[in-house]
Amino acid sequence: MKKVILKDGRELVLRPAEESDAEQLIAYMNLVGGESDFLTYGKDGCRISAEGERQFLRNQTKKSSSLFLVGFIGEELVCSANLAGESKKRIAHNCELGITVKKKYWGLGAASALLAELIRFAKENETLQVIHLDVYANNERAIHLYRKCGFQVAGRLKKYFQVGGQYYDDLVMDLYLS
Ligand SMILES: CC(C)(COP(=O)(O)OP(=O)(O)OC[C@H]1O[C@@H](n2cnc3c(N)ncnc32)[C@H](O)[C@@H]1OP(=O)(O)O)[C@@H](O)C(=O)NCCC(=O)NCCS
Repeated sequence: MKKVILKDGRELVLRPAEESDAEQLIAYMNLVGGESDFLTYGKDGCRISAEGERQFLRNQTKKSSSLFLVGFIGEELVCSANLAGESKKRIAHNCELGITVKKKYWGLGAASALLAELIRFAKENETLQVIHLDVYANNERAIHLYRKCGFQVAGRLKKYFQVGGQYYDDLVMDLYLS
């Protein structure tokens, strides 16, 4: 568990997600999906069942190169970030990162705190060498954040995302750990 003081003075508590977070996480994903056009799903677009989410969390917990963090202010789930290590041997040194913060808490440093924890975890992990992520090329806030943490653009996939009939490019960004 890690406690962080946000820019507005509130305390954010970060900890690994547990199976008992499943229902709250599904509600959280269905909310944040509608708060921006920068995810692969929109409002109420998370269709996983509570049991499916529990199974996912169980599997994540078992993998030594994966870490799913949740952040709470008091009882409220306000942010989450997932680092998912690859299973296949020849790509096992890679992991994929995803991150979200509830909109009313944007700009307070929550994502920076989550990223710092995940990067620390990845650097301490014996297997991991590269963190990958995908970001909408017009998501300036997220790109700023990733660059600040040392990520660099590795490539661009044109028209990768489609939202409401409009296409957006995908920036593939990497952080090389050593
Ligand atoms: C992207 C996201 C995770 C950032 O979370 P956050 O808690 O607001 O991030 P932080 O407060 O830690 O940092 C935001 C940084 O972006 C900067 N920023 C804010 N608006 C910006 C903009 N329009 N352009 C560039 N930088 C911007 C802030 O100044 C801050 O940088 P700093 O620490 O150097 O001052 C959050 O906005 C979010 O969940 N967005 C919707 C989902 C999403 O886009 N997820 C990422 C998918 S790849």
